[in-house]
Amino acid sequence: MSTRGKFITFEGCDGCGKSTQLRLLSEYLTKEKIPHIFTREPGGGKISEAIREILLSGKNMEMTDECEALLYAASRVQHLSDRVEPSLAKGELVICDRYVDSSLAYQAYARGLGKEFIEKINAFALENYLPDVTIFIDLTPEAAFRRKKGADANDRLEQAGMEFHKRVYAGYKALAEEYPSRIVCVNGEQTPDGIFADVIKALKERGCL
Ligand code: TYD
Repeated sequence: MSTRGKFITFEGCDGCGKSTQLRLLSEYLTKEKIPHIFTREPGGGKISEAIREILLSGKNMEMTDECEALLYAASRVQHLSDRVEPSLAKGELVICDRYVDSSLAYQAYARGLGKEFIEKINAFALENYLPDVTIFIDLTPEAAFRRKKGADANDRLEQAGMEFHKRVYAGYKALAEEYPSRIVCVNGEQTPDGIFADVIKALKERGCL
């Protein structure tokens, strides 16, 4: 039987450069022949991707904050069962673009639903599937938005505005302070290669590579 794989998540404000880092990591893991999967939240499977469409559609602006939080949690539980658990059980490295820290930063802190409520509805994830390492790309929303010109104007979340994203960022900083052994802060102001060097170093130090 193979040893269980490691679970790595990537977090950060919208436009922080996560996608570039995930692409670089994908190239690295393929080159090194390390068995892995890439996945994302919300989404990553048939049902979770359908939930993602509801969540991110610009047509659903009247969605309540509680409904939004529950849909993220619903998408998460399905995704864990469809993709994350089977790969971890096979000994593969699982790299997930966003996870429960996004719910804590966006829904608990930024939407103001509170940590207690978000932790309660995500208890299955927090108790059974806490990531081995979470890479937080530390870039302020002001810097992120400067980079992300031409964003999709129909994206419901991006219409939420700068004040919301500043609260998201503050939420991430609070989480990083609270969970320093799991969450690694990587300076997002560097060049993509500089950020990537820090990502690889952190993953090696924590025994994921
Ligand atoms: P996406 O287009 O994938 O953004 P990004 O490339 O920045 O990851 O959209 C995901 C959005 O969903 C993003 O704005 C963060 C939000 N989100 C939450 O609010 N709560 C959550 O639990 C998750 C997983 C994502």
